[in-house]
Amino acid sequence: MKREEIIEISNQYIMNTYSRMPLVFEKGRGAYLWDFDGKKYLDFVTGIAVNNLGHCHPKVVETIKRESEKLIHVSNLYFIASQALLGKKLVESSLVDGRAFFCNSGAEANEAAIKLVRKYSKEKFKSNDRYEIITMENSFHGRTITTITATGQEKFRKGFEPLVQGFKYVSYNNTDALKKAVSDKTCAVMVEPIQGEGGVNVPGEKYLEEVRKLCDEKGLVLILDEVQTGMGRTGKLLGFQHTSIKPDIFTLAKGLGGGIPIGAMVAKNEIADFFTPGSHASTFGGNPFVCSVALTVLEVIEKEGILKNCEEMGEYLTKKLKGLAKGFKFIKEVRGKGLLIGMELTIDGKNVVNSCIERGLLINCTMNNILRFLPPLVISKNEVDEAVEVLGKALVEVSEKS
Ligand SMILES: Cc1ncc(COP(=O)(O)O)c(C=O)c1O
Repeated sequence: MKREEIIEISNQYIMNTYSRMPLVFEKGRGAYLWDFDGKKYLDFVTGIAVNNLGHCHPKVVETIKRESEKLIHVSNLYFIASQALLGKKLVESSLVDGRAFFCNSGAEANEAAIKLVRKYSKEKFKSNDRYEIITMENSFHGRTITTITATGQEKFRKGFEPLVQGFKYVSYNNTDALKKAVSDKTCAVMVEPIQGEGGVNVPGEKYLEEVRKLCDEKGLVLILDEVQTGMGRTGKLLGFQHTSIKPDIFTLAKGLGGGIPIGAMVAKNEIADFFTPGSHASTFGGNPFVCSVALTVLEVIEKEGILKNCEEMGEYLTKKLKGLAKGFKFIKEVRGKGLLIGMELTIDGKNVVNSCIERGLLINCTMNNILRFLPPLVISKNEVDEAVEVLGKALVEVSEKS
C-alpha cells in the first residue's frame, strides 16, 4: 500500500481524535524509523516514551516470538507465572513491600490507584467523607473520565462534564499551596515526579520530600504517576529514585512493555490489602504474554547498562541543547532529567517540529511551545550529534522566517 492510500483510508474510517502528521512508518530498528517511501528518520519521540529500548530490540523481539508460540492469554481466574515474577521484580525494585495490579495503559493504572485510595480511606478511617485527591495544575494522568478529572488541565476536561467528584488542583512545585489545600476530606496527593505532557516541568530538588513529609503528617496517601518518568526515562528505573523518598503507590505504563500495551499500579501492602477479590479487574491485565515481554524489558535495563547510558546521554544532549539555545533569542530554557528533556520556546514550536521532520528527525512539541526530546535510552553519542545538527538547521530556518 502507498502512504497516500493509507492516509485516505485512515481519514475515512478512523475517528478523528489525533492531529496526525502525514507520515506512515513501516519499519523500526534502534533509534531509527523508516516510512512507507523508504525515508529514514531518527526517532526522538519513541511513541512518547514507550520504545525506551529502541525499536524492535532483539531481546524483546525474541521474547515476543518465543512467548507468542507458547501462551498468549489466560484469564486472571488462574495464576500466571510471568505476572507473579513481574510483580515481584517491580516491588523489589521500588518499595519495602507491596503488590502490583496489572492493566493495559497509564490511564487505567491511575484509575486503579484512585479506586484503591478511595477504598482504603473509606475503610481504614471508617468515613465516607475522606475521598478527595489533590493533583497538580498542568498535570496529565490520562483520558478516562476520572483521569481527565485528575488531570490539572482544563482543555482535557472541557466538553465532558459532569466530571467525577473529589479532585482539587494546586500549583506544581508549591508545597505551601498544597498545605493550604489539604482538608478533612483529603485522602491522597497524586503527582508526577516530572510533569511530562505539562511541559517537562522539573520541580525543586526537595519538592517530593516535602510532599512526602506533608502526606506523613496528615495521613495522606502519596501516589506518584511514573507513567512517563518510569522505566529508566530519567536515568533511574523510577523517577522518585533520584530522591530519598518512597511513594505509597506508583503507576507505570509506556516503557514497561517495550511497545506491548501494559500498565501497572504498585502499592505498599498496608494499602494494597484493601483490594480484595471483586474490588477491581481487567480482562487483559497482566496476561502471560505481556508480562513475559515486560520481564525482558526489565532484564535488558539491568544487564545492558541502560540507566547509565540514559544518564550520560541525557547530560550530553542537555549540554548540546543548551549550547544551541545560546544562538536563538526565542529559546527560553532547556530543562529535564535523563532523556526526558524539554526546550521552552517563546514562539509556537510547530514550525520547528515540521522542519525537523522534513530533515529526518522526529521530535514532539507539548503545550504548543515546549519541544520535547524523548530519544530511546539506547541512543548513542553519534545519534545525539546527528539530532542536534538537524535541530540546529531547523532552528535557523524558523529564525530566518520569523
Ligand atoms: C504522566 C502520565 N500519566 C498518564 C498517562 C496516560 O497514559 P495512557 O495514554 O497510557 O493512558 C500519560 C500519557 O502520556 C502520562 O504522561
